[in-house]
Amino acid sequence: MPKPPTLPKVVVTYPFHPELIASELAPHARVALARTRPALLKALPDADGLITCLFDRVDEKLLARSPKLRVVANVAVGVDNIDLKACARRGIAVTNTPGVLTQATAELTLALLLAVARRVPEGEKLARGGKWKGWRPDELLGLELQGRRAVIVGPGRIGGATTQLFKALGLAVETLGSRASDAEIRAKLSNAQVLSLHLPLKADTRHWLSAGRLALLPRDAIVLNTSRGPVVDEAALLRALKARRLFGAGLDVFEQEPKIPAALRKLPNVVLLPHLGSATRTTRAEMARLAIQGTLTVLRGGHPPNRVNS
Ligand code: GLV
Repeated sequence: MPKPPTLPKVVVTYPFHPELIASELAPHARVALARTRPALLKALPDADGLITCLFDRVDEKLLARSPKLRVVANVAVGVDNIDLKACARRGIAVTNTPGVLTQATAELTLALLLAVARRVPEGEKLARGGKWKGWRPDELLGLELQGRRAVIVGPGRIGGATTQLFKALGLAVETLGSRASDAEIRAKLSNAQVLSLHLPLKADTRHWLSAGRLALLPRDAIVLNTSRGPVVDEAALLRALKARRLFGAGLDVFEQEPKIPAALRKLPNVVLLPHLGSATRTTRAEMARLAIQGTLTVLRGGHPPNRVNS
């Protein structure tokens, strides 16, 4: 039976959790799926709500086509894909999914650390490839982590949870906030045997890990990034890895996703993942739930706690 036209229209750009969309969103909204940019631009003129993923660009052009839009709910904690100011100017609320992905992302950071330090992908490739000749005392030697000095850049929720996991392994952890002075950054980086990035992507965090800062790291350091690709100068990181200045890197995010430079893919001392930080079953369900709740709260005139603009 068609829904009464009085129900608000909510456009979703990906069928991110069909069961929850059916049980929690569809009874209260006319749900329209628009998976491509052209389909989205076509679906927006009469839309009241929009649920996006981090690969959707919510910009002036899109907003200009959305005269009725009251809420954009991003199924991600990062909101760098959304022009927040343009939304605020139009009175459009923007929500994200904080908290529910903290542990999943911290655990994936730990997985990357262990994989890089103990050269897990290289060992797995050797074992799986059928070329292993038997145990050798000098095969694929890695780094032991206990007692190593780690610096967590961005001591927010995910940085905090990662700190706890690193401490449980016996790493000595220090933190750096995004407003740290140059002197503090220099001092901490020159001591960072493990550097893990947990900064949101903003104008002032783009290329936070620059060539100059990479050069401060001790030889044989490990760099981890589970935040956003552009927080790291990827070309500079590639040069440092190629030159073996670093022991290795663990990257879940890249500057131009889904593109990963071929030169990076060829290096043995880097572990690459396809942006899996929040990819656990429970986390993704909770992210979907938060996005749906945020959307419906705004459409009912409320102010959801996960609203990121005023
Ligand atoms: C994932 O990267 C997120 O921001 O949720």
